[in-house]
Amino acid sequence: MSNPVKETAEIFSVQKVGAYYQFTVVAPGIAAGFAPGHFVAVAVGGENTSMILRRAFALLGATPSGQFAGTIQFVVAEHGAGTRWITQRRAGDTLDIVGPLGTPFPLPSAPSPAVLVGGGYGTAPLLPLAAGLIEAGSAVEFLLGAATSSRLYGELAAKRLAGSVTVTTDDGSAGEKGLVTEALPAAIERIGAEVVYACGPMGMLRAVGDISRAHAIRAQVAVEESMACGIGVCMTCVLPVRGDDGRSRFVRSCVDGPVFDADRVRWADVGTLPPDLLGADAMGLH
Ligand SMILES: Cc1cc2nc3c(=O)[nH]c(=O)nc-3n(C[C@H](O)[C@H](O)[C@H](O)COP(=O)(O)OP(=O)(O)OC[C@H]3O[C@@H](n4cnc5c(N)ncnc54)[C@H](O)[C@@H]3O)c2cc1C
Ligand code: FES
Repeated sequence: MSNPVKETAEIFSVQKVGAYYQFTVVAPGIAAGFAPGHFVAVAVGGENTSMILRRAFALLGATPSGQFAGTIQFVVAEHGAGTRWITQRRAGDTLDIVGPLGTPFPLPSAPSPAVLVGGGYGTAPLLPLAAGLIEAGSAVEFLLGAATSSRLYGELAAKRLAGSVTVTTDDGSAGEKGLVTEALPAAIERIGAEVVYACGPMGMLRAVGDISRAHAIRAQVAVEESMACGIGVCMTCVLPVRGDDGRSRFVRSCVDGPVFDADRVRWADVGTLPPDLLGADAMGLH
């Protein structure tokens, strides 16, 4: 985890993009520490709110220098009361933001062909990742999926970066009809992928992990587990993950993640208390 800072950040612009709201916010301290895969935690509801928990958003990008220096960008989908409050903010309003949080995507040590799989707004953190991979000499292919066309995000930006973009929607309203993971085996073979990166719903990430394993390549996936503190103290966001020693532990997705090697995550046990976990006896499971 990098050193997060808390900033009272002025909103520079809010753009409606399909079903989403794209925020550009002046937060130089957060922008300075940004790497693809980091997220921010935004306070919601104003001063007298009962919504005490911050809401997490993956960073779409940051501009530490040059034009719009000191800005960060993130994309918000309306979900419940907290995200509704955020989407009602306008340019000139301020947001109370902590970041950058989490552990970013690991980059290959040498140029490696990569497939990037984004589900809905999950494409957002993959765009700066693609820019970094391409700059380092890796070939990149994008697969973007969503339930319906208005829930797709980042198609144009992905095309500008990588050229090769496959779009799928569950209802066939844009691109190929079907799940984005159905297009993954062919993309891996087409580009000779050595790594897959993904961000999106848990079911999609699990399928990305399965398909990558079947092709004997690694998948680095950014999970979206419910979070409370976002800084590693409350254990709300834990996932069962296998360590280097073969033993499984609950790890905090806010500080040890949100990016994990998909093969290490015990997807079938997410949301349960598996009895073979290290420390499970102390939890009274034996
Ligand atoms: C690392 C990370 C990155 C994320 N990136 C984005 C993003 O780029 N864009 C975006 O629109 N959303 C993102 N989310 C999901 C977003 O944080 C939730 O949609 C939001 O917290 C819901 O708040 P709410 O008040 O609108 O909904 P409510 O359901 O009222 O939220 C109540 C509480 O439940 C938790 N919660 C509810 N839904 C989710 C969820 N899907 N994921 C995590 N926690 C949840 C929140 O912690 C919140 O405190 C991300 C979540 C995580 C953990
Ligand atoms: S959200 Fe509190 S430990 Fe991760």
